[in-house]
Amino acid sequence: MTDAAQMIFDRLLPPPGPPQAAQARAPGNIALAKYWGKRDPALNLPCNSSLSVSLRDWGSITRVAPAPDRQDAVWLNGERLPGTSPFAMKALAFAGRFRRGLDAPLHIRTTNTIPTAAGLASSASGFAALTKALCAAFGADLDPAGQSQLARIGSGSACRSLWHGFVRWDRGRAPDGADSHGYPLPDIWPGFRIAVIPVDIGPKAHPSRAGMNRTVATSPLYASWPERAEADCADVRAAIEARDLRTLGETAEANALAMHATMLAARPALIYLKPQTWVVLETLWRARADGLVAYATMDAGANVKLIFLENAARDVQAAFPPARVIAPFDPP
Ligand code: PMV
Repeated sequence: MTDAAQMIFDRLLPPPGPPQAAQARAPGNIALAKYWGKRDPALNLPCNSSLSVSLRDWGSITRVAPAPDRQDAVWLNGERLPGTSPFAMKALAFAGRFRRGLDAPLHIRTTNTIPTAAGLASSASGFAALTKALCAAFGADLDPAGQSQLARIGSGSACRSLWHGFVRWDRGRAPDGADSHGYPLPDIWPGFRIAVIPVDIGPKAHPSRAGMNRTVATSPLYASWPERAEADCADVRAAIEARDLRTLGETAEANALAMHATMLAARPALIYLKPQTWVVLETLWRARADGLVAYATMDAGANVKLIFLENAARDVQAAFPPARVIAPFDPP
């Protein structure tokens, strides 16, 4: 059987040769206009474009090196994982796409710099850092757009983690996904802030891949999503250009809630939000009625991320003491 994903690696990478040790880092990202639903599950081609902001120094650092003991092995945050761990299996399967049958056992060491207590999934930064490290290890001199196409196959949202700042992922049209990758937006918005309000820091209840596929296959509300999401993505883009936090925030919040509505209507329902998520949202909506200019977004998990400007940071922190505030455009 032809493996369509492998054909992309074969097209973009040079013939496999012995790997060198290499290290790379990549930031996490939060989508302000969400990716939800694949038109091609094997290639992770989305039904709609999305737009994110990267989380500066919250991300992953990955080191890949030839295994001195000639055994594949994976470490996460300093701990050697059993070969049966889903993380290790995914990382090694992805490395296999670079090795293409070459006998080159690897040691892969990933450290997440996203605080565990923030409860953010790190598959985006993890696959982006792994892609960069494997490209360097196998001597693949790809531009970031090429690396983004490979990272996308590891995890869709990873294709936006090749850059800092605002990043758009065009849905693209090409059947092989050659035009479906991230690219950075030129906008620098120093006062832009994002805060994570941790609600649930445990592992995801349902992996997003299975959740997305179930929503597309069974949710009667999904039919309305791709067109609306595409329009939201354009509106978020325009609001960033105009430095219009209100329009950006209103669009991002409505976009996230619409995404969760498609999941709620899936059969059986897919529910990532927890009672505490709604408590945070109601606190936010009350504070907003009292003048706070801040907006919420939620991904495939219960945690809430708030979007606001620097001048609201003190009020956000007062309303939400556990908030961890990130300044995406501060110098490293
Ligand atoms: O990259 P994945 O397959 O984990 O999907 C991520 C989907 C969302 O986080 C819910 C939205 C997004 O655009 O990041």
